Amino acid sequence: MAIPKTEWIWHNGQFVKWDDANVHITTHALHYGSSVFEGLRSYAAKAGPAILGLDPHVQRLFDSCRVLRMDLPYTQDQISSAIIETVLRNGLNACYIRPLAYKGTGTITLDARKAQTEFAIMAFDFGSLMGADGLENGVDVMVSSWRRMAPDTHAGMTKAGGNYVNSGFVTMEANDLGYMEGITLDVNGHVSEGSGENIFAVYRGAIYTPPVGASILLGVNRSYIIALAREMGYEVREETFPREMLYVADELFFTGTAVEVTPIRSVDRIKIGNGSCGPITKRIQDQFFGIINGAIPDTHGWMTLVK
Ligand SMILES: Cc1ncc(COP(=O)(O)O)c(C=O)c1O
Repeated sequence: MAIPKTEWIWHNGQFVKWDDANVHITTHALHYGSSVFEGLRSYAAKAGPAILGLDPHVQRLFDSCRVLRMDLPYTQDQISSAIIETVLRNGLNACYIRPLAYKGTGTITLDARKAQTEFAIMAFDFGSLMGADGLENGVDVMVSSWRRMAPDTHAGMTKAGGNYVNSGFVTMEANDLGYMEGITLDVNGHVSEGSGENIFAVYRGAIYTPPVGASILLGVNRSYIIALAREMGYEVREETFPREMLYVADELFFTGTAVEVTPIRSVDRIKIGNGSCGPITKRIQDQFFGIINGAIPDTHGWMTLVK
């Protein structure tokens, strides 16, 4: 999926033309993965573009920076405004937004604090990562042979660039073997998450999702889906569960900015439920997309109109 070029990128406090948003080859993040990023979506609302989860995404960005000890010379409000401005300047409506903080030039040592922190925001058109068919009928996935990082190795709660070496292994393996995605287990062998999504299992009427201690990224959409499911009367349990629960679950689905709410129809070629989108997943999807599309009132204040 190539990145469709837009006109403007916000880079270190000002808008520059797409082709001029460059880095030096000594950029620390290129060598050692010392970056943190976010992925947000804007949706085409009746009154113009509306960003889903602006505040929690910006909060997570600052949390990631804190853990990586990256000083950002901006406030959260300034970054939020710059995100909005990037969507507007490029004349975008429904789009994907990628804020990126990275350690620039300044040192060849591993102590990234000696390099300056730089910041960029890109926004561009982006469809559904797993396709319209995946959203409707579900996707075929595998349990990856790659584990998610153990908690005392990488900081899994952060959206650090270096963490995505692990996600890349998972994705490449799944692609090579003909699956849409891979699900990782954590260091203890419990289900963790997809390469870039959180996972939910519907099992005998309750909904399970791995807890923060299972090396997951605490997804913004994960928290929204937990809230929606509880409001709809479902019991949602954030607890560890084993690999085999994937095979006997009545329904499985992913959540995330890129995949939204995508059903899983098979794991390791074992059919899940009736092999398509399950009824509880469908209800949750309808509620989620209803809020995003404006058909259901946004009582939680999840959407931020950019005008
Ligand atoms: C590893 C990983 N887990 C989960 C998610 C889902 O997070 P969110 O719902 O905030 O997009 C993402 C995507 O950002 C991710 O990269």
